[in-house]
Amino acid sequence: MKDFKRTLITSALPYANGPVHIGHLAGVYVPADIYARYLRLRGRDVLFIGGSDEHGVPITIKAKAEGVTPQDIVDRYHNIIKDSFEELGISFDVYGRTTSATHRRVASDFFRRLYDKGEFIEKTTEQLYDEEAGQFLADRYVVGTCPHCGNENAYGDQCEACGTSLNATDLINPRSAITGNTPVLRPTSHWYLPLDKWEPALRQWILEEHKEWRPNVYGQCKSWLDLGLQPRAVSRDLNWGIPVPVEGADGKVLYVWFDAPIGYISNTIDCVGDDWEKWWKDSDTRMIHFIGKDNIVFHCIVFPAMLMADGSYNLPDNVPANEFLNLEDDKISTSRNWAVWLHEYLRELPNRQDELRYVLTANAPETRDNNFTWADFQSRVNSELVAILGNFINRVAVLLHKFYDGTVPPAGQLTEQDLRIKEEVEETVAVLSENLENFKFRDASKEAMNIARIGNKYLADSEPWKVIKTDPKRVETIMNLCTQLCANLAIAFEPITPFAAEKIRKTFRLSDLTWDKLGKFDLVPAGTEIEQPQLLFEKIDDSIVEEQVNKLLRTKKENAIKNWQPKPVKPAVDFETFEKLDIRVGKVLECKKVKKSKKLLQFLIEDGMGTRTILSGIAAYYAPEDLIGKEICFIANFEPRKMMGIESNGMILSAVNADDTLTVIGPAGPVQPGAAVG
Ligand code: 2FM
Ligand code: ZN
Repeated sequence: MKDFKRTLITSALPYANGPVHIGHLAGVYVPADIYARYLRLRGRDVLFIGGSDEHGVPITIKAKAEGVTPQDIVDRYHNIIKDSFEELGISFDVYGRTTSATHRRVASDFFRRLYDKGEFIEKTTEQLYDEEAGQFLADRYVVGTCPHCGNENAYGDQCEACGTSLNATDLINPRSAITGNTPVLRPTSHWYLPLDKWEPALRQWILEEHKEWRPNVYGQCKSWLDLGLQPRAVSRDLNWGIPVPVEGADGKVLYVWFDAPIGYISNTIDCVGDDWEKWWKDSDTRMIHFIGKDNIVFHCIVFPAMLMADGSYNLPDNVPANEFLNLEDDKISTSRNWAVWLHEYLRELPNRQDELRYVLTANAPETRDNNFTWADFQSRVNSELVAILGNFINRVAVLLHKFYDGTVPPAGQLTEQDLRIKEEVEETVAVLSENLENFKFRDASKEAMNIARIGNKYLADSEPWKVIKTDPKRVETIMNLCTQLCANLAIAFEPITPFAAEKIRKTFRLSDLTWDKLGKFDLVPAGTEIEQPQLLFEKIDDSIVEEQVNKLLRTKKENAIKNWQPKPVKPAVDFETFEKLDIRVGKVLECKKVKKSKKLLQFLIEDGMGTRTILSGIAAYYAPEDLIGKEICFIANFEPRKMMGIESNGMILSAVNADDTLTVIGPAGPVQPGAAVG
């Protein structure tokens, strides 16, 4: 592989129309940050670019719904996102925004350069127009049936059910997302980037020169290229965005997917000033885009075609796109509020940044969609971070204080066992580095943890707490080696759990640790006085998991209530048929659970003529004592039925609510038992 001088790392710019969630983190930001931290530890020249994507239709739709301006929306979410990334330790060199003056200038200039070179085609086509709203319906302003999968709520730019990217005019039965009206067609002119022109160059570059890309990325590119590329509009009729910098383009702005990736360039300029070109144009620089799989086409085809059309930029060297993360077996969804939001996590589980970073890495959706569950979060924190990594570091620090008042002893003659440990660590470190180089962060986290496993096993096998009585010299060597292992862990875990790594450094007074020191056993000189150990990780109690799971259950309930619809009415019946049912009011005299049945309650009902027993399968919804004394309605001439050896004479009426609770039906005012309902 070519040896590059510097690496430009970009991470997808999140839309500033909502906070970020664990899906964004697992897909893009945690892996990008691990890579940036790893390269910095290797002493490589790195620039890590982040920022908010502040244009696009979803932002204007949200602003309209809230009665505020799009600028209000992006100001609010840009700050929430920026702050929460910072708190999680995402070490961007810059976190910019696409509403900045720099970006407006850079994106305009970029368009203008391509325009002046004749790289666009100007075309007039018929587009959907909402006559009541008085505007064209770009992208998400139009909803309709997907021509590929039949999803009735596909958007004008994409069907979220089948993932197909669409043109608004492809939709069957389109309707305006603003008024609900059926749009009409009106002619409008736009600028198109002829992707077909760049198809041969893109084919050569991706399919021939980048066979090493992840199979999911390479495969998606290949299927796009095999389908044949079409010119793609790079402008829109909207009033939110960067104005098209051409005479007579009033009311037209750059398409958000044209301006957003240019945001990587603008943010570089805001970060390094005049020096920016070396990061984008120097052949000694390589660019890596960290994105989620829904962004592959834009980063591997559209943006590279823009860069090719300009002609002076580097193309990305790799695009390690991740698959999606699900939450508790359900797709993460902003509209259904089915997510763990980063800013809420940070508030509800304070000082637990590393725990989230680690779990999202150990369970990263690198090769297929993966699932986040709170139970798995708890088990990985408790049985890996606490029980393996935290435990080893703590034991070593405690023993050093106990045996030597915190002063690191010298190592003597190494035994076979010691040499084996060193060898094992060296091997593990080689695999760890290899995984990080190849964007296999999940495997890397396992190798890093293996170093702590090696340490724990070494302690358990060498038993310094026993040997100290018989061979104190030997214990000096054991404890020296253990100290060196702690230093190794501070390096190995810095990219994944930087807060814990910092605590280890502090405890063992480690400075200037670099990746090339990993695998070495002379990192902490004998005689170093270490500090008292700090707790690296705390166990996650069941109560924390319960609270988070209950929060999700509440969301599920809220969604069920929001989406609830009554069942369609059954076919009509005549009065005689209705009259055949004898519905009566009764009073509950007794109510108890039926033994050995989870479902059944047994009622004794006063029915005006005497009493009767009725069984009802509603034990999951009521405590029996809560029903005693209540007036209820029941079908009095329901055929007797025997259940669990008890005869039931009637049926108690009840209704199931939207949230799956159930209510027994009774009269709204006082009625004497036995009265007929009709
Ligand atoms: O999918 C998204 O969230 C986009 N806002 C990503 C943009 S990446 C880059 F092009 F800015
Ligand atoms: Zn579809």
